[in-house]
Amino acid sequence: MHELVKKWQNVAPSQNAEKILRERYYLKNREGEYLENSWNELSRRVARVIAAAELLNNPRLQQMTPAERLDHIKSWEEAFYELISSRIFIPNSPTLFNAGMGVDFELLYKPLENMKLEDYEKIVQQRNHLHMLSACFVVPVDDSIDGIFTAVKEYAMITKVGGGIGSNFSALRPNGSFVAGTHGKASGPISFMHVFNSAVSVVEQGYRRRGALMGILNIDHPDIVDFIQAKRGNDGERVLRFFNISVGIPMQREEILKLYEQDGQIELHHPKWVGKKQVRVREIFQLMAQNAWETGDPGMVFLGEMNKYYALYPVRQIISTNPCGEIGLGPYEACNLGSIDVAKLYDGGKFAWDALEKIVRVAVRFLDNVIDVNVFPIDKIEWAVKESRRLGLGIMGFADLLYQMEIPYDSEEARRFARNLMAFISLHAHEASSDLGEEKGNFPLFSQSRYAKEENFVPFSMDVSDYDDEIKQHFKTRAKKHKRNVAVLAIAPTGSISNIADTSSGLEPNFLLAYVRYVNKQSSGEREPLLYVNEVLRKKMPAEDLKRIESELIEKGSLKNLDVDEKWKRIFVVALDISPMDHLLMQEAFQCYVDNNISKTINMPNSASVDDVLDIYVEALKHKIRGLTVYRDGSLRTQVLTTARSA
Ligand code: CDP
Repeated sequence: MHELVKKWQNVAPSQNAEKILRERYYLKNREGEYLENSWNELSRRVARVIAAAELLNNPRLQQMTPAERLDHIKSWEEAFYELISSRIFIPNSPTLFNAGMGVDFELLYKPLENMKLEDYEKIVQQRNHLHMLSACFVVPVDDSIDGIFTAVKEYAMITKVGGGIGSNFSALRPNGSFVAGTHGKASGPISFMHVFNSAVSVVEQGYRRRGALMGILNIDHPDIVDFIQAKRGNDGERVLRFFNISVGIPMQREEILKLYEQDGQIELHHPKWVGKKQVRVREIFQLMAQNAWETGDPGMVFLGEMNKYYALYPVRQIISTNPCGEIGLGPYEACNLGSIDVAKLYDGGKFAWDALEKIVRVAVRFLDNVIDVNVFPIDKIEWAVKESRRLGLGIMGFADLLYQMEIPYDSEEARRFARNLMAFISLHAHEASSDLGEEKGNFPLFSQSRYAKEENFVPFSMDVSDYDDEIKQHFKTRAKKHKRNVAVLAIAPTGSISNIADTSSGLEPNFLLAYVRYVNKQSSGEREPLLYVNEVLRKKMPAEDLKRIESELIEKGSLKNLDVDEKWKRIFVVALDISPMDHLLMQEAFQCYVDNNISKTINMPNSASVDDVLDIYVEALKHKIRGLTVYRDGSLRTQVLTTARSA
């Protein structure tokens, strides 16, 4: 393995990270005693279980002798272990929580040299119903009481094992429309969303974090105006507490832009609705902006844009996203995620592209293996996942990487680097997926996919990067024959795993350079403060300067108004120092090379007006992005992150 990986294996998680791990991640037995006490032990468990998947998904193993088989699995266990233990690559939380559930503990931690082939076989056999490893699910909701309450049950089952769920509620007939069975009136999608919210609120308690849901209603549904206001009065606690809500744009975003610019109308419709109504697109946008200004909701999801780049469209269709938006999915699809900490790849004044290439390839195999050792809560989900084998490999640590490279986040230079970084990852991840297709078999629907059928199909829009020719070449040649996964990339929020990695989250700028983060103590439920000052700043800024400003920095979170050299202010920008447009452009830079989506928040200062928010909603329609989430500082009472001052 690359030397950098070795180097990071020797760096222990910070005290903050260790605290989070002990509270929520280290496995305990039924008596509540810790079975693992270090990140290395956790890494061993996860690497071992995921390597055991080779027994399930590798036809070449049949031709090997038992000794060769054992060597093969062990060598992948070691490769996975190196990546995870170094914290350069970390899979999504459910994989960390649940890998090994049901398996004899002894098998999960015994020294690698003592592992036998039967041990790996036992791991595979002993997995139980809690062995659920994916973060993202989409459940369809049909327009009948039976359909709705089937979905409620499915929500409960998925939440219980730790998945986040999204649904598009547009199939439900609007509020007030006729119900033949009862001669009554339908209560409409928003009322039913409260039922889903309640179900999840009861189920979450057994689990290690609160559930997360996404509710979508398409822009042409008759209840759209009420939907946009569904989180009014949101105090972060009561109103549809578990839901993010988004307006679905099933058509191309350019169509809506045109209607907006020409002050056109959109016809609202539903097959079970006899009414007729048109709404001005400008009115809808005004209302979205007003509500987003107040509560942060609704966002927008460009379903048409997602399907435009979906390799199985129109054979399959994306109907919704998961809660944070990074994955668009069809009915009953699920996806598992993993993120590479790019900040750890900057070493000796250089970015280690060669290490990144190797890491990407191992990570793709890891995520593909996760599918096969996963125990899905519902059979329909297992079928949907296995016919297309979608993965979500992405990054974290981007802002900390830019700090090290001394490139301001809100600059064209940063965006150029972002495009090159993502294009490079995308190229090698897709190469790896084609390698796996050749080695283990293509995804079952491959022959119906646009990879196989469409001359010039590339599953993302592209822009300008150093790898464009190689990417085009890949999809023209290799991808025509071999592809293991319908999509491979996504950038997740990495809300928890970036803390474990001691790095900045996803592609986001740091929210604050110094802050207090509250974590719930599982044992007592108390909130405990953890203090944090950005590591790169600590290393780069002369110690005496930092000392001089430290208390003010903890209070304000940004260098912007502090008495320090302009150079530091320009490099160490935080979310609220960056203009909304610069946030959006960074989202676009990455999205151009990602086949799934990106989780990104467009942060706005508390002083932003409704018109400022509206400008961004309209601007979003003009860019190659797949959705929009806006957050005006202070618009919700409960924030995960807070400065010491506001705590
Ligand atoms: O860092 P971690 O792996 O815990 O998760 P993340 O990257 O912040 O979120 C990835 C996805 O996990 C989200 O989009 C949700 O689908 C899901 N999630 C969830 O179900 N419940 C949460 N409390 C947080 C995330």
